[in-house]
Amino acid sequence: MKHLIDPMDLTVEEIDRLIELGGKILQNKEKYQEVCKHKSLATLFFEPSTRTRLSFEAAMLELGGNVLGFSSANSSSAQKGESVSDTVRTVSSYCDIIAMRHPKEGAPLVASRKIDVPLINAGDGGHYHPTQTLTDLMTIYQEKGHFDNLTVGMCGDLKFGRTVHSLIKAMSRYENVRFVMISPEELRLPDYIVKDVFEKKNIPYTEVSTMEEVMPELDILYMTRVQRERFFNEQDYIRLKDSFILDPEKLINAKEDLCIMHPLPRVNEISTKVDDDPRACYFKQVRYGKFIRMALIMTMLGVKANED
Ligand code: NCD
Repeated sequence: MKHLIDPMDLTVEEIDRLIELGGKILQNKEKYQEVCKHKSLATLFFEPSTRTRLSFEAAMLELGGNVLGFSSANSSSAQKGESVSDTVRTVSSYCDIIAMRHPKEGAPLVASRKIDVPLINAGDGGHYHPTQTLTDLMTIYQEKGHFDNLTVGMCGDLKFGRTVHSLIKAMSRYENVRFVMISPEELRLPDYIVKDVFEKKNIPYTEVSTMEEVMPELDILYMTRVQRERFFNEQDYIRLKDSFILDPEKLINAKEDLCIMHPLPRVNEISTKVDDDPRACYFKQVRYGKFIRMALIMTMLGVKANED
């Protein structure tokens, strides 16, 4: 595995192995605390982040490695006009692996072509976010024990939400998965996902405009934030931002083992009153994100713990 740009760069078997290794690390952190000694991870974030950047950094530190990098384009030479490729090529001389986030779709792919160290796409515009997908898959596996035969509701900004696009692609490879898309008309899933994934693979999906009408069917409810930074017009954002708010009343008819997920950050779309519901999995998701990134870093660097 050289670079990870698109969630489909990983086979189903590779995903299974990462989830398995993530689970082993979660059970026995001590065993892995030195496996990346003398290795370093660079986090190049040209766009804001809390969880993704810090979980990558925490992951590498907990494996005994080092971290370096920047957390905004303004604090890098991008501010002086340097190209992304030149910045990434430079940093590749200082580290063993790179995690990069950029507002432009395709920027991590272009940057990866110029370097000899593995590069992980930590989110490119409205495109993909493969490590959030791994986080989501580990969460689903830990909570449900399988990926087949699930009805997955996705709610909110399905147009710009890269976590949604990535997760749909990854989940489309499992048996008998149904998708229910819940969004305002303007924020429906882009055509390229509908055509390349649902239609090409004959995967059942429905589009609805309220959560309540589908709540009883769902095994997973994946909530998302309206992506303010990708709107051209602030008025549109203001009009659409509170289209869907999940609160305890809306969960009355939900399954008892519904798994409520959100990549976070949340703005308003899940009431804090839901946080204590046992079905709320979004903070567990954060925790799994660190362990799956530990597994990913180890795998991409080709390091192992004794007896693994
Ligand atoms: C997501 C992202 O950056 O796409 N956040 C994350 O990485 N956990 C979702 C979002 O910003 O809404």
